[in-house]
Amino acid sequence: MMDLALKLETTSTIPLHKQLYEEIRQAILSGRLESGQRMPSTRALAKTLGLSRATVLFSYDQLLSEGYLQTIPASGTFVACQLPDALLQATSPPISPASPSCIELSTYGAALATVNLPPPPGQKPLINFSCYGRPAFDEFPIQIWRRLLSRARCSSTAILDYPADPLGYKPLREAIARYLTQSRAVRCEPSQVAIVNGSQQALDLIARLFLNRGDRVVMEDPGYTEARYIFQVQGAELLAVPVDRSGLVMEQLSALTTPVKLVYVTPSHQFPTGAVLSLPRRLALLAWAQQTGTIILEDDYDSEFRYDERPIPALQGLTNSDSVIYIGTFSKVMFPSLRMGYLVIPQQLISVVARAKWLVDRQSPLLEQHALADFINEGHLESHIRRMRILYAQRRRTLVQALTQHLGNRVTIIGENAGMNALVKFHTDQNDEEIIAQAEQKGVELISARSCYMNAEYGNGKFLLGCTDLNSEAIQEGVWHLAQILKA
Ligand SMILES: Cc1ncc(COP(=O)(O)O)c(C=O)c1O
Repeated sequence: MMDLALKLETTSTIPLHKQLYEEIRQAILSGRLESGQRMPSTRALAKTLGLSRATVLFSYDQLLSEGYLQTIPASGTFVACQLPDALLQATSPPISPASPSCIELSTYGAALATVNLPPPPGQKPLINFSCYGRPAFDEFPIQIWRRLLSRARCSSTAILDYPADPLGYKPLREAIARYLTQSRAVRCEPSQVAIVNGSQQALDLIARLFLNRGDRVVMEDPGYTEARYIFQVQGAELLAVPVDRSGLVMEQLSALTTPVKLVYVTPSHQFPTGAVLSLPRRLALLAWAQQTGTIILEDDYDSEFRYDERPIPALQGLTNSDSVIYIGTFSKVMFPSLRMGYLVIPQQLISVVARAKWLVDRQSPLLEQHALADFINEGHLESHIRRMRILYAQRRRTLVQALTQHLGNRVTIIGENAGMNALVKFHTDQNDEEIIAQAEQKGVELISARSCYMNAEYGNGKFLLGCTDLNSEAIQEGVWHLAQILKA
């Protein structure tokens, strides 16, 4: 082995046992170690290379399990006489794939390139207003969640199996149906609740199931960019209908002369303006959808957080018809990495949604579904929401007060006293990039609201300020910096 010149680098980040494994494997594949050749004992090799015996044992075990080495009882360890074919072929150059530029993407794949997905997070800023809608993670009852997860883990081996029903764990669907009936006035049976991996998957499934290329989709303008992208890459033609202080402007919707397949709305807390769709408009929208045979997709993403008044009941609960598909998420009331959301679907669509969910990913993770059912049924969700409603109201108040105090008439705050972010318009001649860059220098991160607008120019000077995961000092300091940056 000495003259095999095994190259091991003690300063490398690759563990030594991995390096040793790779060196011996390469020596076998290149023929420097011949088949049938005796290998030194682990003790001897460890001594020669100045390694611990455990390190060598680890590498040998791996090589043995992959068939590069074999042991002969009472004799020792040898290079395998017959190496697995596939492994030998690894030395020959792989069949070269077509260069990426020659691989033709589908229309869906190509359309993906046209949307601006968020960049990966960079360095953590000191004060981050850009994560609008991010819950206060340090307030989440993580100990309770851990306990429920571990209880679910120990429940039964059935939790490891493929699902009984792709639409989700029955007790969770029942718990959500109860919660929605009581808290959101949604009309539903547990069988109509489909558990999905966040609202994003709900939107994706609905787009696949109901939209063909060229179908028209009405979007609130401004609206939720991530929903727009889903419809866009699905090949839908997007029609923008403006939003005012009472939500979607119904006269403009009714004035459309072309047939519409689907209308996406956030009626209880319009994203991003915060407007609430008024009752007359809700009724008008439902009537229009029924007359025209249009699907209403109601995204009820953060309506638990209203601070002045009682929650606004869901649009879905105002109708007996099948025109509304309702989407909810646990990203806001719990935490987004949970990737747990739900759809409430009309009875006639249950089977097709179940088939779609099965084909896409079988089912959402069962362990989390068990824990979540317990989290709701034991009252933890309700008490967490109650606590967060008080905290977020305080933080939003602090943000509004700080903006008013430090920026005065250089800012307009748009929207109701609700939700997890505020849409603001800064009155200044500076352009958005300048403001963002200068804020960054002060350790403050901002996000422009331009991408929410179909015509991005309408979003000039507008920013989404998230405040729910910032304490009062951070909010005040952040706004103070903004006041120094923004020139009247
Ligand atoms: C309008 C809207 N819907 C839904 C969501 C949540 O998405 P998800 O459930 O995929 O985390 C967000 C998040 O910011 C949102 O703004």
